[in-house]
Amino acid sequence: MEKLLSTAAQNALPSGVRRMFELAKKYDDSINLTLGEPGFITPKHIIDAGIKGLLEGKTKYTPNSGIKELRDAIAYKLYKENGIKCDPDKNIIVTAGATQALMLAIVTLVNPGDEVIIQGPNWPDYKGQIDMVNAKTVYAKVDEKNDFKMTADLIEPLITDKTKLIIINSPSNPTGGVLEWEDLLKIAELVKKHKIFIISDEPYERLVYDGFTQKSLAAIPGIEDYVLTINSFSKTFAMTGFRVGYICANESITENLIKLQENMVASVPEPMQLAAVEAIYNGEKDVCEMLKHYDRNRHLIVEGLNKIKGFSCLYPKGAFYVFPNITGFGMKSRETAEYILEKTHVVTSPGDAFGPDGEGYIRICYASKYEDIKEALSRMEKAFGKK
Ligand SMILES: Cc1ncc(COP(=O)(O)O)c(C=O)c1O
Repeated sequence: MEKLLSTAAQNALPSGVRRMFELAKKYDDSINLTLGEPGFITPKHIIDAGIKGLLEGKTKYTPNSGIKELRDAIAYKLYKENGIKCDPDKNIIVTAGATQALMLAIVTLVNPGDEVIIQGPNWPDYKGQIDMVNAKTVYAKVDEKNDFKMTADLIEPLITDKTKLIIINSPSNPTGGVLEWEDLLKIAELVKKHKIFIISDEPYERLVYDGFTQKSLAAIPGIEDYVLTINSFSKTFAMTGFRVGYICANESITENLIKLQENMVASVPEPMQLAAVEAIYNGEKDVCEMLKHYDRNRHLIVEGLNKIKGFSCLYPKGAFYVFPNITGFGMKSRETAEYILEKTHVVTSPGDAFGPDGEGYIRICYASKYEDIKEALSRMEKAFGKK
């Protein structure tokens, strides 16, 4: 039976993050720090906007590119916050989260046999999606010593005549590393020189700390034909279940994205799009409150881990993940994550779930409750001892 399935299905690997999630089910008192999801319920006014849409009978297909109100709101946000000028009728398409935005962009840009450069370690779905179009993933291995940055220097030697696309992701999942303006300028130079498409995947763009502001690659002039900005409402507004995201790109690309969107999901549910409109215009206060909470958790987890034997953890500037070095445990990342689970019932994600370059690390999501993180740290300190 297996043999009858597509190569994509046969080759797809089960998620290493979900695997830990499943293993943890045997413990009643487990603390789950695996899934990259805000610990908050979506702010009520955003939920209400969705409910209002449903009650008003907004229950039909929308245009493939999304409703006009949402495209206008996205264009307003991109101009105000990111310095990206775009026409809501020509440059924006609404998608089912950044996940579907990425799949749509990859299907639109990449042919079988093409090469796609991504960061290693990486969000696993990039590799899964590249595999689905029978293209080759090429990893730009980032270094902890350089704050896990995927710089132009790492990317350029990997470019061949088969390279079709580069994906950058700042702040990054799983490392929390960020690209600064100078890094983006150098990447833009690369794009100009080699004329390669580049996706800037920015779902964690608002989750930044220590006064850092995440800039967008597309704000740099001269690369408009090549850059696709992908973003989502999931992480910023605690709306993972709403499944709303978007792509902003040159019109010649968007026209094609829209054609293929018809074949993929046709359109995103209108009530969810209306909730996203509400989030853009009235969600800022919620974002600031959630950020304060994440930042408090960030300090707690980094300082706590650095006191425990076996861990060494950088202060990430973005997202809601830490990616501590666990080579001090003397085991592979998968064994270490299982050992931590067995001894403390704290569930973490092994670094190898984020590709071969994640070996030597584990990922911990600190978007959950402060008390849970405190308890997780206390259990780990008891089990493994203080430094
Ligand atoms: C780097 C990155 N990109 C995209 C996504 C997709 O987010 P969503 O589809 O919920 O918008 C995620 C989710 O974890 C992510 O970590």
